[in-house]
Amino acid sequence: MNKTYTYNFPTPIRFGSGVISELADYLKKHNLKRPLFVTDGTVAELSFFKKIKSDVERAGVYVEVFTEMHKNPLKSDVLKGGVVYQNAKCDCIVGIGGGVALDVARAIVLRVNHKRDLFDYDDLIGGDKYVTEDVPHFITVPTTSGTGSEVGRSAIISEDISKKKRILFSPKLMAKIVFADPMLTMELPKFITAATGMDALTHNMEAYVAKGFHPMCDGIALEGIALIAQSIETATINPDIESRSKMLLASLMGAVAFQKGLGIVHSLAHPLSSVFDTHHGLANAINLPYGMDFNYGGFEHRFDKMAVALGLGTNAGSKVVSHLFELNEKLGLPSKLSAIGVKEEDIDELSALAVADFCHPNNPKPVALKDFKTVYKKAL
Ligand SMILES: [Fe+2]
Repeated sequence: MNKTYTYNFPTPIRFGSGVISELADYLKKHNLKRPLFVTDGTVAELSFFKKIKSDVERAGVYVEVFTEMHKNPLKSDVLKGGVVYQNAKCDCIVGIGGGVALDVARAIVLRVNHKRDLFDYDDLIGGDKYVTEDVPHFITVPTTSGTGSEVGRSAIISEDISKKKRILFSPKLMAKIVFADPMLTMELPKFITAATGMDALTHNMEAYVAKGFHPMCDGIALEGIALIAQSIETATINPDIESRSKMLLASLMGAVAFQKGLGIVHSLAHPLSSVFDTHHGLANAINLPYGMDFNYGGFEHRFDKMAVALGLGTNAGSKVVSHLFELNEKLGLPSKLSAIGVKEEDIDELSALAVADFCHPNNPKPVALKDFKTVYKKAL
């Protein structure tokens, strides 16, 4: 206990059924008259999005909508959004959607008053030092329970040609408020609920075992795991407001907890999205049991605590991995990479990308290239 630490949990969150109806009043109270709504093309067509927009417009607020984004969002998407913001003379940004829409919204928040090349701000090359200007008022509205991007302070955006993922990061990019309304997640289809839910479980579990001394994140992660264990099956198979509420909170808690770091599972998952365009949550779901199996030896005490949160009882850390396999099966998700088209000859390329990924340095155990190859082979 002879080191010093900074802990930070700052985002105001309005949570509960119907809180989205407060958005118009919030905008008026803060004298915001021309929001840019950033969402993806699918959400833009849904009735709840149209209702949010019309409710705000009825309050005398002009709404501009931006939806031009790729599934793995590109720099050019962000630049276009910045132009729309400026041309429409917007005065704030409301990100509405899953991780992609919220990442694009957050990157536009940065872009508006920061005109260097977008990737000069890449956190991995120290770019946050250039984030010196004010940024627009930023509001987030999650519509999935997975990434927890609504409480994040970074955006993952890919280069247009190479598709390499870059991270824009700054505490300035945090939302001023989150409206987390579980009613907006009620219509999510089964696969998206299961896959994004497993992403949230992966965030909580990887954060809990990640390196570093952060008892506050650890406590949040364990409770996040417990909420998911209580609700992911119901939310996926027979959703009700209670299960949807618990999943929405747990996903947000996972993102708070992973300030501490992520680990091997996300590093195994990211290359699958880059090479095979695999859904991020699905990629995590498949790799979670294998990554946790890699981490188990030497961290049995941590697995015992996760086992309690998962409802497996005391001294049951050794049951966690098999429980994760069973959970995937119950949710209708695969537990093998071959199910998403990965072949033995792909493993070298995937492993090279995984070892270059930014997540595994926080894994509790070091992960070398040969370890990635071994784990991918097991998962094949
Ligand atoms: Fe994730």
